[in-house]
Amino acid sequence: MKVLVFGKTGQVARELQALSGAEVQIEALSRAEADLQNPSQCAERIQATDADVVINAAAYTAVDQAETEPYVAETINATSPGAMAKAAAARNLPFLHISTDYVFDGSGDAPHVSSDLTDPINVYGRSKLAGEEAVRAAGGKHVILRTSWVFSAHGANFVKSMLRLSESRDALSIVADQHGGPTPAGDIAATLLTIARGLLAGKPGGTYHYAGTPTTTWADFARAIFQSTNRMVSVTNIPSSGFPSPAKRPLNSRLDCATLLSDFGITPPDWQAGLTRVITQLERSDI
Ligand SMILES: NC(=O)c1ccc[n+]([C@@H]2O[C@H](COP(=O)([O-])OP(=O)(O)OC[C@H]3O[C@@H](n4cnc5c(N)ncnc54)[C@H](OP(=O)(O)O)[C@@H]3O)[C@@H](O)[C@H]2O)c1
Repeated sequence: MKVLVFGKTGQVARELQALSGAEVQIEALSRAEADLQNPSQCAERIQATDADVVINAAAYTAVDQAETEPYVAETINATSPGAMAKAAAARNLPFLHISTDYVFDGSGDAPHVSSDLTDPINVYGRSKLAGEEAVRAAGGKHVILRTSWVFSAHGANFVKSMLRLSESRDALSIVADQHGGPTPAGDIAATLLTIARGLLAGKPGGTYHYAGTPTTTWADFARAIFQSTNRMVSVTNIPSSGFPSPAKRPLNSRLDCATLLSDFGITPPDWQAGLTRVITQLERSDI
């Protein structure tokens, strides 16, 4: 299977490249090769590809910065994915697109199913929702995979922020009223390839959820990170209101992943096992 991936340096994009081998050939495009601020350039890459399937792992992910750059976020997260999905549809290539728990407003405490009403509460979430709508409107075979709280040994993420803070702090106050599933980027990459094989084998697409289990909070996730690395940092629970940020975050980011299991046989990843792998990777290298 030949896979064209948009994004080369991101958490999920790097893990996709790590899975490249005899059975799966990954061609990952950097920003210089396909800039998502240039929708027609991205579409042209798909028109010219000899890949069997296309994965969009690039996105504008700076949630707070998006509040002051809504047009840039919209172009990267919605206009370009729409143009890419149209180009893929014209060539009958399955298109896989990653989305987010931030398309929901975070009310309630039940895990969201994919058909739940969307109502994003920040610019990033609105741009990602517009991206989903553009991908669906393109009319080709596609999967939109919503995930949450992504972490890996690469890039910027909560695990690396906590480890960095533990170098200089022995006590931290962390938000404890947002609930969700931390999701290892490596598991997202493997899941995308399983879905891609399924689509090529004739399965229909749709919108699916994939998030780490069990559900936790940022504060408990921080405790698990410090425990796994034997760092003596005490964590105090605070509400979101105690950590003001430019973009509001949803309180309920729980995602119900049942349809991915029934349609593709994919189970949600155990984030604690993923955390152990990432910490081992970080300790073995100077990432
Ligand atoms: N991170 C999370 O916690 C989280 C949670 C839920 C959903 N998601 C979704 O999961 C997907 C993957 O996220 P991630 O965490 O792997 O992202 P990431 O590590 O932040 O990487 C983003 C990637 O997008 C690329 N990119 C940004 N702007 C671009 C542009 N104009 N043209 C081309 N490439 C561009 C970046 O390239 P440069 O290095 O050149 O900037 C980078 O490769 C995204 O769709 C994201 O919305 C993420």
